[in-house]
Amino acid sequence: MVHDKAPTCKADLATAIRESWSQIDEEYCNQVYEVKVCEGKVYIQTQNALSLTPWKKTPCEQPGNIGASEIKQVKANDECSLTYWASRILCTPDPEEKAKLTHQVQEMWNSGNITEIGHIEPPVQPSRKEDLTIVQPGQIKRGKGGTLASRIALLHSLANIEQWAIDLSWDIIARFAAFQLQTGERLPKDFFSDFVKVAGDEAKHYCLLEKRLVELDSRFGDLPVHNGLWQSASDTAHDLLGRLAIVHMVHEARGLDVHPQTLQRFLAQGDKSSAQVLEVLYADEITHVAAGLKWFTYICDVEQRDCLSTFHELVPLYFRGYLKPPFNTEGRKSAGMSEEGRVRSDCAGEPDIY
Ligand SMILES: [Fe+2]
Ligand SMILES: [Fe+2]
Repeated sequence: MVHDKAPTCKADLATAIRESWSQIDEEYCNQVYEVKVCEGKVYIQTQNALSLTPWKKTPCEQPGNIGASEIKQVKANDECSLTYWASRILCTPDPEEKAKLTHQVQEMWNSGNITEIGHIEPPVQPSRKEDLTIVQPGQIKRGKGGTLASRIALLHSLANIEQWAIDLSWDIIARFAAFQLQTGERLPKDFFSDFVKVAGDEAKHYCLLEKRLVELDSRFGDLPVHNGLWQSASDTAHDLLGRLAIVHMVHEARGLDVHPQTLQRFLAQGDKSSAQVLEVLYADEITHVAAGLKWFTYICDVEQRDCLSTFHELVPLYFRGYLKPPFNTEGRKSAGMSEEGRVRSDCAGEPDIY
């Protein structure tokens, strides 16, 4: 949340912080929240990640859940728009329902039953099922694939990534729906079509992984998950080039890098069914990296920026990890990424998006 009265000096700032704390104490039962000052405004984190973006109340900001009726109250005229559905899907906690709605909206968009982009603002963070156990990213042990339990852990971890990937696709659509390039131009309709396609792919990936988990006598939600992937979305909520660079050209490209090793882990155990699922994911993910690169390049070209130096400026701003070899040069090339698209490749690092 942002304090209403932006302070103008240090004394005002201290007062503003104190007032904000007591307001929060009342509202949130004396819990501790992080405070940050940015350009004279006090931002107080009441969700999972600190945001420098002013906190706007959105219809589905509360965890849990939201229905169409709440969204309709905000802007009735937008209820048939793509951003209405994007926000509604972001606010859908059940991943199966999220995937199902995604496919329905993809069909409506492709058939021309949805044509308006609209102006519904997305929630700060997507909803998750209440019975999902959420822990810190470092507490998740991703399986190495050597045992059945380990393969299930790996598939479960990938399913969690796919659930976030669905949300990231709808978030880029809704959050940047009104984005204007420096020339004043709006994003072309193809931008939205591309990310509707990405959302549909991610929903397909989630369903394939969930189906495979069930075949192995498990299900999504049996193991703890983390919300770490949303950090990049929060960090780049105000910066489309940053979003494209980090989510699609760093994390998703990293997904291409780790694919051969992950595939090998399943094949080494004779798990051909899981390997087939991973192959489907991999083929689609190449197109997702390509989509990120396409729109990053488009914006740079229109705004007469140098793509490579812009990429290298943005990555250290928003990406806190390091990229670790080996790189999947073949997969990256298929997506159109050059070797210069790697950054800080000499250190260890994490996360991947499929
Ligand atoms: Fe993807
Ligand atoms: Fe995916």
